[in-house]
Amino acid sequence: MLEDVQKGLEGVLVAESGLSSIDGDAGRLIYRGYDIETLAREATYEEVLYLLWHDELPTAEELEAFADSIAEERELSADVLETVRRLAASGEEPMAALRTAVSALSADEPEPDADPEDLDATLRKGRRITAKIPTILAAFERYRMDEAPVDPHPDLDLAENFLYMLTGEEPDDIAAETIDQALILHADHGLNASTFTSMVVASTMADVYSSVTAGIGALSGPLHGGANQDVMEMLIEVDESDRDPLDWVKNATDEGRRIPGFGHRVYNVKDPRAKILQARCKELSEANGDEKWYDYTTTIEEYLTEEQGLVEKGIAPNVDFYSGTVYYQLGIPVDMYTPIFAMSRVGGWVGHVLEYQEDNRLIRPRGRYTGPEEAEWVPIDER
Ligand code: CMC
Repeated sequence: MLEDVQKGLEGVLVAESGLSSIDGDAGRLIYRGYDIETLAREATYEEVLYLLWHDELPTAEELEAFADSIAEERELSADVLETVRRLAASGEEPMAALRTAVSALSADEPEPDADPEDLDATLRKGRRITAKIPTILAAFERYRMDEAPVDPHPDLDLAENFLYMLTGEEPDDIAAETIDQALILHADHGLNASTFTSMVVASTMADVYSSVTAGIGALSGPLHGGANQDVMEMLIEVDESDRDPLDWVKNATDEGRRIPGFGHRVYNVKDPRAKILQARCKELSEANGDEKWYDYTTTIEEYLTEEQGLVEKGIAPNVDFYSGTVYYQLGIPVDMYTPIFAMSRVGGWVGHVLEYQEDNRLIRPRGRYTGPEEAEWVPIDER
């Protein structure tokens, strides 16, 4: 029995996994041996999902059949749509709405009684959830805008169809490629908090709806997926302050503010995903003829890394530092950024659930008790 408490499970190995690996000193991320840069440049999100769920890259035929099988599962039942409508009408936060709607999806599951040990059935369920999350999010946004949801388009890929359902118009190539790339970059990332949460739930042999619902809850916090929204809100604050961004960040650090989008439990150098999104952000800024957001982020990054010496402390930009400005330039509402992260990370959650359940062992750690050993019971009316 280990005696030392590893606060936050920092550095503790809890499972083996063949899905993804991070080299935090070299700033390298691989999915099943493929560099994230290669996947972001060459693959599609569906191809990456296949890789994560089936151990290897698909052939062209396999990919087509797989992408079709996802496209066929996009529609929501009238009941789930009504749930989404009511959540939007009540002013629910998008991540909370997504959590509730994914949980509600299980009522429509065509294989509700499948044996939890039947991993093929779990894969099919995971595929249905993955296919429906974009529809939930787009419908939620449409209802919030007092507009009717747009039916999924069977001929568009997952990223294109999401933008289509969000706006009612087929997206241009730049927007579709950008979202597809963002989905690839966020699909898996070792045993991050939300993936570990999904695995803990799966280790009880609960079904995959519970794992994904729990994963969404864990992802929603500001120390995890919620940081991308916080970064954009910070940049909007800089913009509205009418201050020079350099002045703004100096003041923020003097006040001891923690800058969202910086720091990571595993990376000691700049996150490779941040580099790819930074390049995307620059491209979009140049295409839009407005480099304001790109300039704000780079000014803040330079000041923090050079002047504040955060790099020496191993605190560098993470994926969230540049994703916000990318989504903002595509006109996506700020509070949909973390849900887009969830729309992608569901691939990792399902992949890890499948992998873990293949050789399952209940996850059940211990805590060191620090309360009194013996306490004398006092009846309630004598306390
Ligand atoms: N700005 C300024 N200082 C920071 C930051 C930051 N964003 N992050 C960490 N530090 C400092 C922190 O103050 C502490 O300094 P000291 O040792 O002097 O007290 C030191 O770095 C270590 O911080 P920590 O909180 O113990 O580090 P951690 O490994 O537990 O936390 C983190 C990692 C991601 C929670 C943290 O860096 C953070 O809060 N970052 C901002 C939120 C964020 O961007 N989250 C997204 C993470 S990446 C995407 C994802 O996985 O979802």
